[in-house]
Amino acid sequence: MTHSSPVPAGATRRTVVAAAGASGLAVLLAACGDSDDGHKSGAPGAGESGGLARTSDIPEGGGKVFADRKVVVTQPAKGEFKAFSAVCTHQGCLVNKVAEGTIDCPCHGSKFSVADGSVRNGPATKPLPPVRVSVKGDSLTLE
Ligand code: FES
Repeated sequence: MTHSSPVPAGATRRTVVAAAGASGLAVLLAACGDSDDGHKSGAPGAGESGGLARTSDIPEGGGKVFADRKVVVTQPAKGEFKAFSAVCTHQGCLVNKVAEGTIDCPCHGSKFSVADGSVRNGPATKPLPPVRVSVKGDSLTLE
């Protein structure tokens, strides 16, 4: 007598090991933005839309200080407009007056020419840096 036993089907068990290795890296970048030139030599808020003033606001032979824009606009000759930084080159006060052909600083009495910003009266030794201004119709716009 033979005895045959059926071969049991082997159960295969599969174990899937999922190794999830997630390592998060956080990289922090510290950006350090410092400006090292203490005084910017007169480039007041350029590129703003809208005009700075009307040409009729600027007296012929004189000018007008726009303290909030740190700029002074002059009209040395009829229809000729110039603009300069209103920051005095002596110690950085804002000029506050245009009279008798000069742009005047209240702090120590420096005076600058309305025509080209050059020093007319010390103690400043350097001219007011020019600022570009454009005229469209009757409106003045800083460039
Ligand atoms: S800061 Fe203008 S004269 Fe001194």
